[in-house]
Amino acid sequence: MARITSSVYTSHVPAIGAAMDLGKTQEAYWQPLFKGYEFSKQWMKENTPDVVILVYNDHATAFSLEMIPTFAIGTGAHYPIADEGWGPRPVPSVQGHAELASHIAHSVIQDDFDLTIVNEMPVDHGLSVPLSLMCGQPEKWPVKVIPVAVNVVHYPIPSGQRCFKLGQAIRKAVESFDEDLNVQIWGTGGMSHQLQGPRAGLINKEFDNAFMDQLISDPAALAAKPHIDYVRDAGSEGIELVMWLVARGAMKDCAVTDPIAMKDIASRSRKYAGYHRKHRFYHVPASNTAVGHLILEN
Ligand code: DHB
Ligand code: FE
Repeated sequence: MARITSSVYTSHVPAIGAAMDLGKTQEAYWQPLFKGYEFSKQWMKENTPDVVILVYNDHATAFSLEMIPTFAIGTGAHYPIADEGWGPRPVPSVQGHAELASHIAHSVIQDDFDLTIVNEMPVDHGLSVPLSLMCGQPEKWPVKVIPVAVNVVHYPIPSGQRCFKLGQAIRKAVESFDEDLNVQIWGTGGMSHQLQGPRAGLINKEFDNAFMDQLISDPAALAAKPHIDYVRDAGSEGIELVMWLVARGAMKDCAVTDPIAMKDIASRSRKYAGYHRKHRFYHVPASNTAVGHLILEN
């Protein structure tokens, strides 16, 4: 059977992609940031999965005000790199895993999550920058990718609770796929940032570090945080962090063994907090954003 072996969390700032594409990673501004991902690239080489379920948000690239899916899953075989205004990034296009993606769609929709099924879409920096950070600059991405897009750009946005539960449903779906596949799930976006208005440039280190602590040790409680707290404390774009809860909900300690067992999840998460943390990194700033990064193993 397929299994989720690890989860990865990372910001997806477009300027990080540009720094890699333009050969600027060793410049004084960028060097400390890329240093924090050296461990991750090595870990990724040693733990390359067959498939990454990559939870990200589209930034009005594939979708627009014409059509706003709350949750979308890519069931295609292939996704081109989007042109976000400066031409597509010079990185490989993305191979999907249509069979597993279709199976997840089937299972999760039967579990009452209304996913939009997308067979064709260009993927923007939300998806390509995390791949670059984790895999470097290969000729071809070493993994197949199932894009899961979450609307965090136009209200109403799904709650942290709903995102966490979607992660739990994705775990159940993966574990009922009848093929031996090593699957990782990645949550992207955040951390604190606000790109517009009078508070543009807002960063909140205290919030970000507390978020990472609680994501590791008590994700079920973190999932109850209301939107307004993210927006007040982490800036309008800090709301991207709800996507980290999808990945965290898919970890083993969050598996639903009993529908009323949220209390059990809390005690299991505390118990395993030290054990499954592989890597943690935090750096301010990258462009306008605080960069956070975690690798958690089951
Ligand atoms: C920036 C960060 C983002 O998450 C994004 O989607 C776009 C821009 C930034 O900091 O510049
Ligand atoms: Fe973003």
